[in-house]
Amino acid sequence: MPALPTRLTTLSDRLAFLGEFIRQPLEVASIAPSSRFVARRVAHLVRGASGTIVEIGSGTGGITRALLGTIAADARLVAVELNPALAERVARIDDPRLVVHCGSAEDLPVILRQHGCSPANAIVCGLPFSMVPRLRGMRILRALERSLAPDGDLVAYQIRNTLGRMIGSRLVAVEETIEWLGIPPLRISRWRKAHEARGRAAARESTADPTSAPARALRA
Ligand SMILES: C[S@@+](CC[C@H](N)C(=O)[O-])C[C@H]1O[C@@H](n2cnc3c(N)ncnc32)[C@H](O)[C@@H]1O
Repeated sequence: MPALPTRLTTLSDRLAFLGEFIRQPLEVASIAPSSRFVARRVAHLVRGASGTIVEIGSGTGGITRALLGTIAADARLVAVELNPALAERVARIDDPRLVVHCGSAEDLPVILRQHGCSPANAIVCGLPFSMVPRLRGMRILRALERSLAPDGDLVAYQIRNTLGRMIGSRLVAVEETIEWLGIPPLRISRWRKAHEARGRAAARESTADPTSAPARALRA
């Protein structure tokens, strides 16, 4: 597995991010990219994942770089970013596993088909759901759900628990933590699209022990 890069965000990235926040505050929703602590924690949750991995709202690519440092050498990372200037920045990352798509998360099933990708084993989502109108938020959530493979994981980092409330019992809550290093501190959550027969308990077990069978399946 490639090493985690030490530098995830440059000064130029920060300035570009701030500029796009000023232009599109509701979409970008943050004045600065996520801290490297958040990026590493999120990337750790999908370490070793193979097949199709999706990142939603890649911004200037800090979390993208961290993901590329932990996912499998033969994985494919599809980064979906709505803002063309930010998407163009992410596209500068030189890694054959990375596909950058400028578009909306709502269209994820179509985007995956367009790039010839199988359903995602993991989706990492940085969207500011608390700022998205509820109906649009639900459309996005349905698109993410449809794009997840059975047993696939949805990982989100957010200030509030808006996405968790929208998900309810649609997916199985697996784990949640707060990363305090960063302004603001972020809630990092993971849900699983579990096979119905396995149920909630099995998915919980899988994360209590990182060497357990379902956790290994994610990395397989
Ligand atoms: C809070 S920022 C996170 C950026 C980056 N991942 C980070 O952690 O630094 C949210 C990002 O989602 C993008 N975004 C907002 N709505 C989107 C949508 N419907 N589809 C894809 N990206 C979207 C924004 O342009 C912005 O780059």
